[in-house]
Amino acid sequence: MRLDGRQAVITGGGSGIGRAIALRLASEGASVAIVDINEASASAVATEIEKAGGTARAYVLDVADADAAVEVMKQVAEDLGGIGILVNNAGITRDNLLIRMSPDDWDLVLKINLKGTFNCTRAAARIMMAGRWGRVINISSVIGQIGNIGQASYGASKAGIVALTKTTARELASRGITANAIAPGFIETPMTEKLSEKVRDGLNSMLIIKRFGKPEDIANLVAFLASDEADYITAQTINVDGGMAS
Ligand SMILES: NC(=O)c1ccc[n+]([C@@H]2O[C@H](COP(=O)([O-])OP(=O)(O)OC[C@H]3O[C@@H](n4cnc5c(N)ncnc54)[C@H](O)[C@@H]3O)[C@@H](O)[C@H]2O)c1
Repeated sequence: MRLDGRQAVITGGGSGIGRAIALRLASEGASVAIVDINEASASAVATEIEKAGGTARAYVLDVADADAAVEVMKQVAEDLGGIGILVNNAGITRDNLLIRMSPDDWDLVLKINLKGTFNCTRAAARIMMAGRWGRVINISSVIGQIGNIGQASYGASKAGIVALTKTTARELASRGITANAIAPGFIETPMTEKLSEKVRDGLNSMLIIKRFGKPEDIANLVAFLASDEADYITAQTINVDGGMAS
């Protein structure tokens, strides 16, 4: 299997896209660390993987907490024998029109989505560098490229992830580590199920492929980027969006 012997950390691995990524990487042979702020969902995904014959452990972490990120990554490396793959997937929305968006909500979204990606990359990079091989895969969004009404904070956090990815790629390349971002379009998950029919119809009209995405559509690309086949791909943002942002 193409990820045999690799250890993968997936933040926000307890739900939606993160869950699909964790299941997929485990099915390709990686031992996986499901890292989530929600203990119950992280444990449920780890159990699901173990039942299917894979190797998984659950860890509780608020990615916004830099010190805790260092501790959790150390623990993961100890438990799994290193960290080769980091998928920064944990993310939230606190949508509101710009003039109604509270500074606190702005800060929270930036702190979890953007700073959380920095915190986990910083903590895992030291461990990856020691192994002289690594894959950092950051989940951005089409909203970071095209913006969206009500999503000033979310879009800014996701655009920031693209810039962070490029610097990560440049700083870590000499240690055999690549860094890439994925920009999903509209994916059916708990995050998007609360959107109204009107918003869904508007988004649907932007699609070239006339269906919303599935978490597995994102997991397919993560599995490829995490593999040795993607050895010469770094600093890229790849859209998996049915053509939405084209
Ligand atoms: N669903 C979409 O259409 C879509 C589109 C583009 C990008 N994305 C991005 O994909 C990622 C996953 O989204 P999803 O749709 O699966 O969402 P989701 O809400 O289903 O899952 C997010 C997971 O992150 C966890 N989480 C939230 N805050 C956290 C924190 N502070 N620390 C650790 N874990 C935390 C949650 O507990 C949850 O398990 C997010 O970064 C999101 O922005 C989603």
